[in-house]
Amino acid sequence: MKITILTTFPEMFAPLHTSILGRAEKAGLIEIREVDIRPYSKNKHHNTDDAPFGGGAGMVMLAQPIVDAVRDVMGEHFEGKRIYLSPRGKTLTQADAEKYAAEKELILLCGHYEGVDQRAIDLCMDEEVSIGDYVLTGGELPAMVLVDCIARLVPGVLGCGESARNESFSSGLLEYPQYTRPREFEGRCVPEPLLNGNHREIEAWQFQESLYITLKRRPEMAIRYLQGIKLTKSRKKLIDAVYTRLNSEMDIGPEETEQLPGADRVQTDNVQSDPVTDSASDPDGADTER
Ligand code: ADE
Repeated sequence: MKITILTTFPEMFAPLHTSILGRAEKAGLIEIREVDIRPYSKNKHHNTDDAPFGGGAGMVMLAQPIVDAVRDVMGEHFEGKRIYLSPRGKTLTQADAEKYAAEKELILLCGHYEGVDQRAIDLCMDEEVSIGDYVLTGGELPAMVLVDCIARLVPGVLGCGESARNESFSSGLLEYPQYTRPREFEGRCVPEPLLNGNHREIEAWQFQESLYITLKRRPEMAIRYLQGIKLTKSRKKLIDAVYTRLNSEMDIGPEETEQLPGADRVQTDNVQSDPVTDSASDPDGADTER
């Protein structure tokens, strides 16, 4: 995959060429290049911005250097997406990152100051992407976030194929807690189910921890997940235990459980018997309805 970043601050991108992405670049899995917009300016002093029509604070980036830079880096046979990083864009999700990772080529435009002349966006951008509901001083950090998020999904970039799949957002739930040596640290022990080597128990524990943390921190995400799964008896049992835990922590009575997010999904009338998964815990989505 080839990613070209158009910016007036190419020196900001050194971190993208180190660590995992640096290694992936050396291995030829990804190609990341920064292109300075300034030399494309036909302006006497190679300016890249000017005051906004209609007045107001700040400067607006000129259309001409951007449009010329985009057309130049696209070449004759560009196949991919051109993305403008902006707080006005669609908020980036893991699903978007997966879609972009399947592209052959991406061109990212980093805006600065008060924004970019709308005509440059209309003439040569395909999509507008925001990395969250906050405003940064420019599109450089968002571009780095986007590149990192996409590049790690390119096959071979992460050492172990497992790590990109079995994690927050791709499974529909937030990730369960992880532990490593020692077994006890400052009086805190690694949870017992992780130590006994029983894979079914480990997976059940990880599923319950994922559901628990998602219900607490991202209830809307937990509800979406619960609505998408086929509720087998074994799975219902695991889910029920999570609700019981939340109940006891919140110190509420059983009648109030129904008000917990997604609790209506685990009522008995939703439960289907599944001869395969009811004999195994199968917590990891093998019986997911999609
Ligand atoms: N430029 C400034 N803030 C931004 C944001 N939140 N996302 C994308 N680009 C931006």
